[in-house]
Amino acid sequence: MTKKIHILATGGTIAGQANTHGGYTAGKLNVETLLDALPWRPHDVQVSYEQVANVGSQSIHNEIWYQLANRVNTLSLEKLADGIVITHGTDTMEETAYFLNLVTPGKIPVVLTGAMRPANAFSPDGPENLLAAINVACSGQAKNLGVLVVMNSIIHSARYIQKMGVSQDNAFQSIPLGPVGIQSGTNTHFFVNQLAAIHTNNSEFTKAIENGSLTFSNEFKLPNVNVLYVHAGMDESYLRQWLQLSHEGIVVAGVGAGNLSQTLERLLANQVFQGVAVVRSTRIAAGNIARNMEIDDDRHGFLVAGNLTPAKARILLQLALAVKMPMPQMQTVYDTH
Ligand code: SIN
Repeated sequence: MTKKIHILATGGTIAGQANTHGGYTAGKLNVETLLDALPWRPHDVQVSYEQVANVGSQSIHNEIWYQLANRVNTLSLEKLADGIVITHGTDTMEETAYFLNLVTPGKIPVVLTGAMRPANAFSPDGPENLLAAINVACSGQAKNLGVLVVMNSIIHSARYIQKMGVSQDNAFQSIPLGPVGIQSGTNTHFFVNQLAAIHTNNSEFTKAIENGSLTFSNEFKLPNVNVLYVHAGMDESYLRQWLQLSHEGIVVAGVGAGNLSQTLERLLANQVFQGVAVVRSTRIAAGNIARNMEIDDDRHGFLVAGNLTPAKARILLQLALAVKMPMPQMQTVYDTH
């Protein structure tokens, strides 16, 4: 039976054009041009497409996320596609993937892909990645694993993927779980058939979308949550000024096990006292932030991010605040999503 795969294009290096000085500009080519460059098309696949945006992913913003979430949900719920592929810049791909992993129902595969080299590079990786993503989106098994990312023939879960390299082909890793599968030619092979972390169908936020308490309308605004990167010798007067800006939530990318200087610990405890949600995460790529190790989270009212990266912990806090989740439930959501 012919599969219907719909592509939502947003730009990135996959749609980028190299210049003659060794540089390039992301988000220059449209989706039709990307499809024309495919070396072959899978049989029995009907591809449709739309251009949602055409930007480098450093410029992806909330409104593009809302548009993607709404399109994915419409295409899935109205059975307009059997699978969705999203082309995206690689710099913030893991953030868009995780956002969609929390707010789309997962009834059909949703697969993001991009490229490390622009479309007119000497040997572009975009066409092969796009073809691989189309093949994964055709796989029935893909819909049980939440939103996926395919890069360099490897299939990653949105929950665990991190960009770990600036320019090499194998820039992406899934930490700590490892990839969920591999894509080779038309052969899609999954190593796992379910994830421990809650996603798509069963996420707290998909339920909120289904019952109408969370909608990405034109008026909707995700709460203002910001990340504070911790380093040695932080200046107290800078911290005090930064904390005076309006934050509805703060994710702190701490050192080691999410640790903070005593000054910062005290300042952040005061933020919680003033009603700001504070989440401890780590600037280290691998590891798990546990409660009440060197820092008394219970006393200060801090949340901890487990093994979520600071950027993903920020998205989870934005959504938890958006649905007005009570603070005690928020830690459970970090433990399970
Ligand atoms: C971007 O994220 O848009 C630029 C980098 C890339 O796509 O690899």
